[in-house]
Amino acid sequence: MRFAIVKSAAELGERAFYEIKCVLKAKPDAVIGFATGRTPLPLYEKMAADHAKNGTSYKRVTAINLDEYVGVEAKDKNSFARFMKDNLFSKIDIDPANTNIPNGMAEDLEAECVRYAKFVAEHPADIQILGIGANGHIAFNEPYTKYDTTTHIALLTAKTRSDNAEGFGSPAAVPSYALTMGIKEILSAKKILMLASGEGKAEAIYNMLQGRDDTSCPAAALRSHPDVTVVLDEAAAKYLAFDEWAKIARTAESAAPAAPVTAEKEPPAAPVAPAKEEEAAAPAEETAPVAEVAEVAEDGAPAEDKPEETVEETVEEAPVEETAPAEDEKVYLEAEIIEDDEAEEESAPIVIEEPTRGKKKKGRKNKTLSGV
Ligand code: PGA
Repeated sequence: MRFAIVKSAAELGERAFYEIKCVLKAKPDAVIGFATGRTPLPLYEKMAADHAKNGTSYKRVTAINLDEYVGVEAKDKNSFARFMKDNLFSKIDIDPANTNIPNGMAEDLEAECVRYAKFVAEHPADIQILGIGANGHIAFNEPYTKYDTTTHIALLTAKTRSDNAEGFGSPAAVPSYALTMGIKEILSAKKILMLASGEGKAEAIYNMLQGRDDTSCPAAALRSHPDVTVVLDEAAAKYLAFDEWAKIARTAESAAPAAPVTAEKEPPAAPVAPAKEEEAAAPAEETAPVAEVAEVAEDGAPAEDKPEETVEETVEEAPVEETAPAEDEKVYLEAEIIEDDEAEEESAPIVIEEPTRGKKKKGRKNKTLSGV
């Protein structure tokens, strides 16, 4: 699981769009799983702006949405169908015939679930965009939903109805039921792009990563997926030892030369997952660059409850090849959770990769953060 920490909504949109762009570049007829809610709006704004400016085409894309309220008509301002049309589909060149969302007005809702599940099974997403509920839900899979679910009728929790009340006027006016893709179907996507912003999501993000090993936080199901990128702001990353990450980022930034350069992604001294294929294959200007790698010991406690951490540092020199950064290159703080066969889930290391700007490699530093 890879984490990119961003500083603003605009950066969240840009960093998330980078993932979509990579998928589209490799596969112009990609299946993209879309999510609704406030969180993906900066991404959809970026997609619309990019389409207008650069003409990125979605003509061959198939869109599959996660969920829809039961009893809300598609044309209703509160329907997810309308949300997608207003916020994205009407602003790009996607063929409306290629957009798909469960029909919450279907007479036979069970049959609609079966139909949608079949469609999803026949069109596995190349990338699935996800938000996360404050209670850890993904789509409308509420806490304690079983991981093997496919599209089903979900009973919404009071928390979800209250969180989604804007637009309906009051929590009581929010439908009690929704049709939602199941966790099993979400996990069938080749890549998952999870977005989160705001302090209200911090606990859910923490539970997704380090919470109990049960179904209390549905997003924890993503731990078993091999290709998850989480793009989140500092507030949502609050419990992820972000202070330590930020400290390393600042050190790296202040140490960076005037014309910033970056390290080519290569395995650090600490155990690290192999570089993602698409990153290895992507042209230099589209590669999310990585300069620093750090490992944080997981001890199951939120960062703020942890004792002070120590930083051990080793430096390996590598050839330096400088180049000017591309205009739109950004600095993000990135982290990757490493699947380590020898480590139990509780003790699996979190490897933090912290990119800097530029395209060519420079000397790299490996830093290990370890709890005391
Ligand atoms: P939000 O919803 O983006 O509006 O916070 C996310 C979700 O509930 O999945």
